[in-house]
Amino acid sequence: MSHELSAMNYEPSTMKALILAGGKGTRLKPITNTIAKQLLPVANRPILFYVLDQISEAGITDIGIIISPETGANIREAVGDGSRWGVRITYIPQPEPLGLAHAVKTAQDFLGDSAFLMFLGDNLTQAVVKDFVQRFNTQATDALILLKEVPDPRLFGVAELNSSGEVLHLVEKPKEPKSNLALVGIYLFKPLIHRAIAQIKPSRRGELEITDAIQKMLDNGQTVRSHILTGWWLDTGKKDDMLEANRVVLDNLLQRNVQGEVDTESQVVGRVEIRQGARVEKSTIRGPVSIAEGCHISNSFIGPFTSIGAGTVVEYSSVEHSVILERSRISHVERLADSLIGNGVEVKKGQERFKGIRLFVGCDSTLEL
Ligand code: DAU
Repeated sequence: MSHELSAMNYEPSTMKALILAGGKGTRLKPITNTIAKQLLPVANRPILFYVLDQISEAGITDIGIIISPETGANIREAVGDGSRWGVRITYIPQPEPLGLAHAVKTAQDFLGDSAFLMFLGDNLTQAVVKDFVQRFNTQATDALILLKEVPDPRLFGVAELNSSGEVLHLVEKPKEPKSNLALVGIYLFKPLIHRAIAQIKPSRRGELEITDAIQKMLDNGQTVRSHILTGWWLDTGKKDDMLEANRVVLDNLLQRNVQGEVDTESQVVGRVEIRQGARVEKSTIRGPVSIAEGCHISNSFIGPFTSIGAGTVVEYSSVEHSVILERSRISHVERLADSLIGNGVEVKKGQERFKGIRLFVGCDSTLEL
């Protein structure tokens, strides 16, 4: 082996970070027809903002964000120049979503010969990145991957470890997984990864897989270490993942903060956020719940694990364990639960009586029940 391993040679301030916020997000269609997957809100904040929180907390200030032609403008508008996080952002357009390793290739000029943290922009984890970066800087390794035990590893990259925990083998979405350890979308690399990427071919799904590139590092005799995440990780790929992400973040991170107006006929119980310009009248809000700017809630019950986006109106309705995006209207709906509803959607009750409903509705639609 010709290269040398040396520990403690990368300080966070000299490292870079690469966030992957391109791709197509087809699993959350129809909502992702109009909203980038990484900008979907969890507890009324875009997923990408939690990613940026973690990277800045780890002390990395030079961040590249991979964007796609379809949603790049929205990502730029939401994140801006990064000053809100005290970081500097470079946007890197990827013309086509040809894979995670292709995204790294596209960012090669930005990354130069720096060690870097790669973070998939649709992954949400407990705050672990700071420790993960520290571990990388004190261990002699060429790559550090984060793993998590999952019930169905076939949906992920999967790692096989030996009895002393060393990484033996990695496979992307195997039909017959050799372990239940999935690759979480957070990786640390020394610049040797670029050489490995140059050596791999597109996979069966036609993508240059980062999993194959890390396997190539192993084949080349380089060191890949892993860390097993015990805290929560949410890969926000599907509707139920989004609801679960919303539940976990509201449960773990939300503080009571009532800035909007609440009339004397309303009750606000527990950890509830009501942002400025929101109005609550003749209603009960039972936390954890987040109600964004400019919402109007009247004659309604908003139950636990619900987030309501800016400018949405809820009247004569009961909503719980749901995410409703911006500028929607829920009117006279007896029991809306376990639902994910896009921007500008109207849900209203017609003449027929009905009980609870479950919805997954894209943007700009009207549902008369
Ligand atoms: O979430 C963890 C999983 O992420 C890992 O277990 C897998 O090994 C890894 O391949 C990846 O699998 P997914 O199939 O879930 O990746 P997805 O296509 O959803 O893309 C992840 C993020 O990267 C998402 O924010 C979109 C972005 N992306 C994706 C592609 C393919 C890009 O920016 N460019 C791309 O070319």
